[in-house]
Amino acid sequence: MVKFVSVDNILEIVRDQGIEEFLQGLASYVEEDFKRWELFDKIPRVASHSKVGVIELMPTSDGEHYTFKYVNGHPKNTKEGLQTVTAFGLLADVYTGYPLMLSEMTVLTALRTAATSAVAAKVLARPGSKSMAMIGNGAQSEFQAIAFKELLGITDLRLYDIDPKATEKLMRNLNGRGFNLTACTSGEEAVAGVDIITTVTADKQNATILTDNMVGSGLHINAIGGDCPGKTELHKDVLLRSKIFVEYPPQTRIEGEIQQLDDDYPVNELWQVIRGEAKGRDDDRQITLFDSVGFATEDFSALRYLHDRAVATGLYDTLDMVADPTDPRDLFGLLTKPVGPKLAVENGI
Ligand SMILES: NC(=O)c1ccc[n+]([C@@H]2O[C@H](COP(=O)([O-])OP(=O)(O)OC[C@H]3O[C@@H](n4cnc5c(N)ncnc54)[C@H](O)[C@@H]3O)[C@@H](O)[C@H]2O)c1
Repeated sequence: MVKFVSVDNILEIVRDQGIEEFLQGLASYVEEDFKRWELFDKIPRVASHSKVGVIELMPTSDGEHYTFKYVNGHPKNTKEGLQTVTAFGLLADVYTGYPLMLSEMTVLTALRTAATSAVAAKVLARPGSKSMAMIGNGAQSEFQAIAFKELLGITDLRLYDIDPKATEKLMRNLNGRGFNLTACTSGEEAVAGVDIITTVTADKQNATILTDNMVGSGLHINAIGGDCPGKTELHKDVLLRSKIFVEYPPQTRIEGEIQQLDDDYPVNELWQVIRGEAKGRDDDRQITLFDSVGFATEDFSALRYLHDRAVATGLYDTLDMVADPTDPRDLFGLLTKPVGPKLAVENGI
């Protein structure tokens, strides 16, 4: 039997543990796996593009476990009452090749993206950062806000979305969670005086959410929404003024903000900073940019963490997903086995 974590299961796991503690735990697994970077199989994710969106497969393995995530990105979906991003994924045992856990990953992706953003900001943002602008107030935004409060102590949030209803929703959901919230009417207003800027918009085009004049010295930019060819958020001039950090360069050069730059433009790898082998920001005046696209190892960490939580809490179902003949070479025998009483009734025998 394969463990199955449904949407209900993950909601119960996160509610019972508390989202703050869940994010802390998940962030520690993300950090741990970035530190084991060379153990992982790494390829840019396999993307199937259409006019309206993208469907992607994200596989990796550390030699002991194997994971993949199926994820879509359809910015037009919310207008049709559907989400921009949905996902599910699998954790398997490398020794037997058998699946161990199938899980919903729509909620888990929002949690892992937020945890990864905060892990990156912890080593890149100016120490003592307290305020953040959030441009794009959709599905990912609450998770980002809570992770930054929990891992960095960010309490002042300045919010902007082209749709004021999204900002109202975000303010409602964050109410009573210890933030000072300011709704803004433009991106320029949102970024005024902040320490960190998170861009988390969805638009299937090269948008310009941040122009050069909006970005002052010393800022950390957490750029989440530019994650597909032809889908970026920052003006090229912002990139040219920043020290750029990425997850896996071959994937980010295809999908991230740096698709706007030459293929050999120098970028820094986050895992090296997390492992203490490379410097993060050089000084308090430098602009640091985490050009996030989301990499398979982060989903590996998320599935590994969720599996541990599911086993610890018993909050999972099981799926009859792998045929299990008594003689492993007699798969056909399952078809000729006498029908059990339940099946017999169902089949009218
Ligand atoms: N880097 C990663 O690991 C990662 C992970 C998950 C999602 N994403 C990306 O993050 C983005 C947000 O995802 P979501 O699930 O929150 O989407 P969503 O559709 O729920 O929210 C996006 C919000 O952006 C707003 N928006 C669009 N254009 C804007 C603009 N020009 N200025 C201000 N606001 C604007 C929309 O009104 C909407 O409220 C998507 O592009 C998604 O692909 C990245």
